[in-house]
Amino acid sequence: MTTPLLRLTGINKSFGPIDVLHDISLEVNRGEVLCLLGDNGAGKSTLIKILSGVHKPTSGRMEMDGKSVEFGSPRDASDHGIATVHQFGGTFPLMSIGRSFFVGAEPTRRWGPLTIYDRKRANEIAVTEMRQLGITRIDDGDRLVGGLSGGERQALAIARAVHFGASVLILDEPTAALGVKEAAHVLRIVLQARRKGIAVIFITHNVVHALTVGDHFAVLIRGSKAADFRKGEKSREAITDLMAGGEQMAELEAEIESFSATNDAPRDGAHA
Ligand SMILES: Nc1ncnc2c1ncn2[C@@H]1O[C@H](COP(=O)(O)OP(=O)(O)OP(=O)(O)O)[C@@H](O)[C@H]1O
Ligand SMILES: [Mg+2]
Repeated sequence: MTTPLLRLTGINKSFGPIDVLHDISLEVNRGEVLCLLGDNGAGKSTLIKILSGVHKPTSGRMEMDGKSVEFGSPRDASDHGIATVHQFGGTFPLMSIGRSFFVGAEPTRRWGPLTIYDRKRANEIAVTEMRQLGITRIDDGDRLVGGLSGGERQALAIARAVHFGASVLILDEPTAALGVKEAAHVLRIVLQARRKGIAVIFITHNVVHALTVGDHFAVLIRGSKAADFRKGEKSREAITDLMAGGEQMAELEAEIESFSATNDAPRDGAHA
């Protein structure tokens, strides 16, 4: 057995009196995509915020390469090679592509006695790195991030993580707001990151997306890990059911059925 890149043991998280995560243990391996699944409010974002140094766990242990780690800040996690693309944005719409690629790590050049931001170089690198991920329509790093499509923005964030040598890439619902083509592109980029040996943690509500890229799946239900399995160990139906919280889905289906049975009068526009 090789040591996992990242290992969580018995992680708990409470916000004051609210218990959000209960006893989560999880392993993440190099060159694998771990899909973190679960309903709204299950605790997925909270868990990855712990992994990315935004929150501290109330108790539990985190290890990287077998060594115990504690992250005091997002900067700390990123210094350990953990790159996170958070659920709601995280990019700055009024920043240029080049600037946002290098935010906090700007390339500089000497200008007389001064050290200044090397805009040309930053733009060049950002555009090249995005091109390597298949985003070929962008050739001007001065363009504003706000003018990019959702998929392009995700690609920019992922390209940035790859460029700065992240060993763990965490994506919190990167495909949620995307069209079919754009989502497919992001999935392709995820697979590219995996091929580079990066450990990817991918959060999604979309079963098809999860099944397309996932090697390993963990399901959170109300803050506890309800299932943990590898590709091929469960059927698609079983996974869909787990993702939707099982019985609830069956209840909803029954409700919809009885609703349509009583309301499916022929539509003639008279009772709009
Ligand atoms: N800072 C906080 N203080 C108090 N409660 C919080 C805080 N952050 C999250 N929670 C609560 O923890 C629970 C889990 O939230 P979280 O955002 O982790 O869910 P999620 O699985 O990411 O859901 P979604 O799929 O909707 O993004 C929710 O009930 C939420 O209200
Ligand atoms: Mg979330």
